[in-house]
Amino acid sequence: MQPDIPAAPSAPPVLELQQLRTGYGDVPVVQGVDMRFAAGRMTAIIGSNGAGKSTVIKAAAGLLKVWSGRVLAAGADITREPGHRRLARGIAYVPQGRIVLPEMTVRENLELGGYPLGSDRRRVKAAIERLVVLFPVLGDRMAQLAGNMSGGEQQMLAIARALMTDPATVILDEPSLGLSPKFVDIVFTKLQELSAAGLTVIVVEQKASKILEIAQHGYVMHTGRVLFEGSGADLLADEQVKRVFLGEMPDALAASATAEG
Ligand SMILES: Nc1ncnc2c1ncn2[C@@H]1O[C@H](COP(=O)(O)OP(=O)(O)OP(=O)(O)O)[C@@H](O)[C@H]1O
Ligand SMILES: [Mg+2]
Repeated sequence: MQPDIPAAPSAPPVLELQQLRTGYGDVPVVQGVDMRFAAGRMTAIIGSNGAGKSTVIKAAAGLLKVWSGRVLAAGADITREPGHRRLARGIAYVPQGRIVLPEMTVRENLELGGYPLGSDRRRVKAAIERLVVLFPVLGDRMAQLAGNMSGGEQQMLAIARALMTDPATVILDEPSLGLSPKFVDIVFTKLQELSAAGLTVIVVEQKASKILEIAQHGYVMHTGRVLFEGSGADLLADEQVKRVFLGEMPDALAASATAEG
């Protein structure tokens, strides 16, 4: 017989959004969103254009003021904490558009990501060495100008730069945007590897089916709200999600389909 093992208290999610509302100026965009991001899991946020996906993760990363509701990190209320404090807590953010500094070398771009590590050169050097193991393609190109790399390589660099501080959680906004199919696969495989290594990954994506195939959990957003939530596999199999969000359907169709019920 099994000895009685007391159930481990379930840890709070690394990041949680509770009834989050925010927007731009006085225009509301995110209208009461609840999301929970469990440690070590890859969570995808998908949905129509303008649904508020980027806005939600900007608020999660501390780059946009929250109007109401709460952002919690491992149970602590960080709703009013700025982005750099969240980074210090191990929550990193990779914005949309693989933003690298094109006139700087790959090494200089990585060093910039290591800025929060302070002036300790050894720590920065050790972080770069760790990332070169994760992203061998960057190791061959340390002295190359970032602007001379392919789009896919620049996206790798943008992700690697965000990992310089060794965060536990990384939030990415459409890492596949504008990449060739080959590089979409390479970037997704890399995300899968990072997730398997224990990193908590939160990823907004337009490539909905592809990301749900590798994400353990997903949220489907539409007009500032969460319409569906479930495991990647369940969302992939859901008839309504499939019909409206997994094809490349135009927004008008998505709107009418969701209005139907
Ligand atoms: N800086 C801004 N100022 C004003 N309005 C904005 C700003 N950024 C986004 N919006 C508006 O907020 C709404 C949601 O935008 P958001 O970028 O969050 O959507 P999204 O789901 O990420 O869409 P996409 O798939 O096109 O990236 C849109 O109506 C957009 O026009
Ligand atoms: Mg967006």
